[in-house]
Amino acid sequence: MVKLTTLHAAAALALAGSAVARHSSPRLHNRQSSGSIMESDYSNGATPPGARPGDAAGQTVVIDNDGGHDDNSQRNGCPTIFIGSAAVGGSFSTGWTDMPQVLGFDTMRDLTVGNNVVQPYIIETGKDASKIKRVVITQPGLPRDYWKYANLVRNSLLCASVNSTMGVNTDEILIAAPTWFSTNDASAGSAQSNDLVFNGGNWATGVNSAGPNGEAISSFEALDDLVNKFFDKSTYPNVQQVVIAGHSLGGSFTQHYAMLRKANSAQDGMMSYFIGNPGAYVWPTSDRPIPNPGGNCASTADEWGYGLQDLPPYGNGQGSASSIASRYYGRNIMYALGLSDNEAGDSHCEAQYQGTSHLTRGQNFQKELQSANNGNVPSSQQFNYVPNVAHEDYLIFSDPNSQHFLFAQGSSSGSSSSSSSAAPSSTGRGRTSTSSSGAQQTGSTSQSGSSSSPSSGSSSGALSLISPTSAVSAVLASSAALLALVL
Ligand SMILES: *[C@@H]1O[C@H](CO)[C@@H](O)[C@H](O)[C@H]1NC(C)=O
Repeated sequence: MVKLTTLHAAAALALAGSAVARHSSPRLHNRQSSGSIMESDYSNGATPPGARPGDAAGQTVVIDNDGGHDDNSQRNGCPTIFIGSAAVGGSFSTGWTDMPQVLGFDTMRDLTVGNNVVQPYIIETGKDASKIKRVVITQPGLPRDYWKYANLVRNSLLCASVNSTMGVNTDEILIAAPTWFSTNDASAGSAQSNDLVFNGGNWATGVNSAGPNGEAISSFEALDDLVNKFFDKSTYPNVQQVVIAGHSLGGSFTQHYAMLRKANSAQDGMMSYFIGNPGAYVWPTSDRPIPNPGGNCASTADEWGYGLQDLPPYGNGQGSASSIASRYYGRNIMYALGLSDNEAGDSHCEAQYQGTSHLTRGQNFQKELQSANNGNVPSSQQFNYVPNVAHEDYLIFSDPNSQHFLFAQGSSSGSSSSSSSAAPSSTGRGRTSTSSSGAQQTGSTSQSGSSSSPSSGSSSGALSLISPTSAVSAVLASSAALLALVL
């Protein structure tokens, strides 16, 4: 059973209050005690609402002038706080030594994915399961830093929740994140003896686990089980959407899962996939934009990981490559790509057939989708080219088009309605048609990029929620919060 506890709230707010009272006015103290999420009510380094004893270090309010470029501060235009990422012991290469207590999240060990095998995950605490309509399941990046991505998406949700045109109600949205441990995490201490563990980065492509207890289980199978939990009406009677979301290797994970996830007619119409700046793609056809990039891997360039040959065991019985590809074309997907993301990405020989950078691989992937679908990106898919953003995870997750896809799109379709859900439904329809027409612009990819505007902050003036007070910050500068940076 999923436990959604609320009991800590009073203690948490008391803690938040006392931590800040030392150096702030009574008025500030009162506003924080009311659970404000507005940056103007905080100073840099303050304790955020929802803090509990035992929270990992680093998770304080960050106020600086980086506008999200440091992946540890709020983007320009969002008047809400940014909560810093948890500090964690150990390292990506030697293994993490502990699972940090993420502020506002509980660690869950109730997902059994095999014989005496557990897939841990974290989930936002204090939310009423019966109100949840949408679950956003975040994926970690290469460093298996699940705590960071759950937090980034939570910070983006805080931002979206005060944007009245977005129509987002945080009570109806739940963020969750599987841990995806490696065998190094088991040696270092963060993974317990019955936790699912993978060799190296095998979690990211759905290849079977390295145990424990002699079990070989795909991360995709474990994610299916997690998704099933949220579609279980006895716990979550109102869930209408489950969104899988990742950036970089997490984006690549999400694209691979979207390609290979088994058909599930009860769920597929309620699933969506957010793919941010992946290092490489699994290509749906054997065509490649760069036929002869050099290297020595022509015979493996279309194998799983990069293509639909030689699938991992999770793909058994799923039919031909072309039927898997057609199923993929029907899935609800946003590709969110930084127009300045010129990093090389996945350096393997097989990836060089797809393009020379994150951005060009994405643009080539769009062309491939178009040529495989009569000139158009499939109508359930869209490319969100985000201007002035490089390989910057937070700026991808907090772009308004991304926020709409993550937190609002599709949350409509009617009936289960409170008055707050009626609002997202109407905005939802309008925006959906806008963005799908954006995706269908066939011409040059950079033009379709300019159609997916916002994020430059100043340009969308009329709708801007920026208050003059959001400039308030800078003053107290400094560093304590920056200790939170982990990779
Ligand atoms: C608020 O949401 C709208 C609609 O998604 C978007 O166009 C706008 O840029 C957002 N405003 C801010 C400040 O993020």
